[in-house]
Amino acid sequence: MKKIVLSEEEIDQICKKIAAEMTEKLKDEERIPLVIGVMKGAINFMAGILKYMTRPIFTDYIQITSYFGMQRTNNVRMIKDVSYDCSNRTVIVVEDIVDTGHSMKFLIDHLLRHNAKKVYVCALIDKKVAREVEVPIDFCGYVMKEKQFVAGFGLDYHELERNVPYIYEVDEDDLKRMDGVLEKDHFTFHHY
Ligand code: IMP
Ligand code: MG
Repeated sequence: MKKIVLSEEEIDQICKKIAAEMTEKLKDEERIPLVIGVMKGAINFMAGILKYMTRPIFTDYIQITSYFGMQRTNNVRMIKDVSYDCSNRTVIVVEDIVDTGHSMKFLIDHLLRHNAKKVYVCALIDKKVAREVEVPIDFCGYVMKEKQFVAGFGLDYHELERNVPYIYEVDEDDLKRMDGVLEKDHFTFHHY
C-alpha cells in the first residue's frame, strides 16, 4: 500500500486556498505581478493554482537543477532563466518542495539581483526539518514533519512519477520498481 502524503483532492483544495491567499496579498499591486513556476517539479502545482486565480497576472518559468535521484548535489545551476524582465515588478516563485532551501535562496537572490520589486515564495510542500539555509515561505501547502523522499504531482525520482496525480512517500518497493523501469530503458543518469 502506498503511503499517500497528499491526495488529488487535498492538492486541489490547497491550490484553491493558495490562489485565494495570493489574490488577497496582491490586491494593491499597481503593476501586473509575475508568477514564476520552477521547472520541472512545480509545473503541475502551478497549473493547479493558476486555474483558481482571478486577477490579471503574468506567468513565466525558470529551470534550475540540484537533485540527482534521491541525492542533492550542492550547487544549484540555472538551466533556463525567466523570459520577462522582472524589474520593479512583484514576483511569486512557485516551487514543488523546499528542502534544504539552497534552490530557493538561489532563486530569490537571482530575482532580487534583477531588480524584482518584491519576491514572494510559494511551496506546495515545506520539508522544514531538512532546512540548511533560511528562506521565508509566504504561501505553503503542507509542512512535512520528516525528511522522507516523496514523489508524484511534479515531484520525480530520476524523472519518473511526475505524472502521478497524488504525492506519496517513496519506499524500497517503489525504488525497485522504478530502477527496473529505468534499467529496461537503458537510461543513463546525467546532468545537463
Ligand atoms: P533544495 O534546494 O534542497 O531546497 O531542493 C529543492 C528541490 O529538490 C526541489 O525543488 C525538488 O525538485 C527537489 N526535491 C527535494 N526534496 C524532494 C523529494 O522528496 N522528492 C522529489 N524531489 C525533491
Ligand atoms: Mg523543484
